[in-house]
Amino acid sequence: MQRKRHMKIIIDTDPGQDDAAAIMLALGSPELEILGLTIVAGNVPLDLTTRNALMICELSGRLDVKVFAGAEGPLIGPQVTAEHAHGKSGLDGPDIFKPSIALQTQYAPDFLVETILKEDKKTVTLCPIGPLTNIALALKSEPEIASRIEKIVLMGGGYFAQGNITPSAEFNIFADPEAAKIVYNCGAPIIMMPLDVTHQILTTKARVEKIQAVGNTASLALAKMLGFYSRYNSKKYGNDGAPLHDPTTIAWLLKPELFNGRHCNVEIETESEITRGATVIDWWEVTDRPKNAYVVNEVNSDEFFDLLTDRLGNLN
Ligand code: RIB
Ligand code: CA
Repeated sequence: MQRKRHMKIIIDTDPGQDDAAAIMLALGSPELEILGLTIVAGNVPLDLTTRNALMICELSGRLDVKVFAGAEGPLIGPQVTAEHAHGKSGLDGPDIFKPSIALQTQYAPDFLVETILKEDKKTVTLCPIGPLTNIALALKSEPEIASRIEKIVLMGGGYFAQGNITPSAEFNIFADPEAAKIVYNCGAPIIMMPLDVTHQILTTKARVEKIQAVGNTASLALAKMLGFYSRYNSKKYGNDGAPLHDPTTIAWLLKPELFNGRHCNVEIETESEITRGATVIDWWEVTDRPKNAYVVNEVNSDEFFDLLTDRLGNLN
């Protein structure tokens, strides 16, 4: 197996317990150089998502990670949050504490633009795992970055799996459909992890117990997060465990062979009251619209959790 080359990534996130799993997986993977975490309002308001991101870095023993606050809400329209799934703190499960590390002062979209212009062309990968507002703001302020981004590996949308915040829309897209439209039409290569694949990644009791058994600070905290997170989702979906959405993006970077999908056209519905935020995926290629995303619909979930559990062992 060819050794993975060194990858430079920026994770754009709205922590959330599943965001925490994604960030910890990335921090535990030496193949990845995390240039920064850019924070967006989403699961909970921005002041909590920023606090949660700093907490996750501290729990992982990584006080060196640079964290940038970004958009407080969508480009237009009302703010939507998801305390029902993540709890009031957004990270319910472990004890919440005031992080000892501080935020960077630079605005997240400005950090995105500056970094993508500074680094060599096609060497920076973006991993958005929340609403796409920061990415859209960066693209609006400096459209040239679209041709310089190596790829965008995002969690969002759904097709056969439909929606989870409305009957037809997934939360990250629904929270800012206009931003999603800008990102999907920017021309950068997109790898999309929709609900169709993330619903196969279930935090069963046995899998959470294996995470807990890693025994370090990060994995003990994550096990508590997933304990809380599973309760709501299991009730909703009637499964043993909850869909662990966000770390699929990082796992794809590390082991793309665990996944499968196809190149499709993806359009974002922004006009309809009923289906606003829907990702209209031309899976059966019934149009000649440009194939702007690689849509993932299959994953080896056992090997995914083996990877996550193994990499947690590299943390604090
Ligand atoms: O629909 C799932 C997505 O919405 C995940 O990114 C979760 O963290 C929430 O942001
Ligand atoms: Ca998220």
